[in-house]
Amino acid sequence: MGDRLIAAARDVQARAHAPYSGYSVGAALEAFDGRVFVGANVENASYGLSICAERVALGAAVAAGARRFTRIVVVTDSLPGGSPCGACRQALAEFGVDLEVEAVGADGVRRWRLEELLPDAFGREDLKRQ
Ligand code: THU
Repeated sequence: MGDRLIAAARDVQARAHAPYSGYSVGAALEAFDGRVFVGANVENASYGLSICAERVALGAAVAAGARRFTRIVVVTDSLPGGSPCGACRQALAEFGVDLEVEAVGADGVRRWRLEELLPDAFGREDLKRQ
């Protein structure tokens, strides 16, 4: 259910730690078994250590044993809503590019398949071709 994921992403966005960028992000990742895992961006005074909301959600999911996902919703206050950064696209692709990605901003929703956002993704198969 889209509404359930959007609500979860909005809820966790309020707990983002983004004092440097002022750009708060919430992500809700739905597993095949229906479980929902959330994450918010966590910034650091050593800026490069900051971690995106999507990868926080992915880490929580994997730590809980989820490996297959159907959808991820990313909520920001921007217009249009921000799409996942390149690093997060790659991190998500580790578990399959057949994933629906939704960016919810101040107004409207944008939707993609992860495969569209990261065509010809590098993956484990590439490691065998050496
Ligand atoms: N950020 C995310 O959480 N997800 C993205 O896909 C894009 C960027 C965060 C990282 C940083 O805390 C802030 O947004 C500004 O880049």
